[in-house]
Amino acid sequence: MIELTLNGKPLRLDAEGEMPLLWAVRDLAGLTGTKYGCGMALCGACTVHVDGEPVRACQTPLASVAGKTVTTIEGVGATELGRKVQSAWVAADVPQCGYCQSGQVMSAVALLRRIPRPDDSQIDEAMSGNICRCGTYARIRAAIKSVSTQEA
Ligand code: FES
Ligand code: FES
Repeated sequence: MIELTLNGKPLRLDAEGEMPLLWAVRDLAGLTGTKYGCGMALCGACTVHVDGEPVRACQTPLASVAGKTVTTIEGVGATELGRKVQSAWVAADVPQCGYCQSGQVMSAVALLRRIPRPDDSQIDEAMSGNICRCGTYARIRAAIKSVSTQEA
């Protein structure tokens, strides 16, 4: 039995510790906003937060998050910053097919939490692990900048 907090709620899972966190989130918890892309920590589609830090859920064993706080795209909007980033994504009309975007938003929120006013190189570095086949990178940068320039 593995216990964790998922999007603010306690969760007990009867699962093997080696199960990838992504499987637990999607198949056991039923939260399908977090996507499977490469399965090899290369594309960022599966990005969630563990104790506030972005991690690749496809390569994170469930046992390693026991007792920790996991936030997915379904829960990140409960924070003020998460809500601002999601609003900026809508305002900038970022998504094309949308497949990569929950991971993109999770990485962007983590970046802005760490660096409230990132410059271009800091944005590129923080977002470099999130691949978008539709090429929405310019809009992603614009959305991140629109949040970073908002008055607190
Ligand atoms: S599915 Fe996890 S990084 Fe690609
Ligand atoms: S919006 Fe289609 S892969 Fe990024």
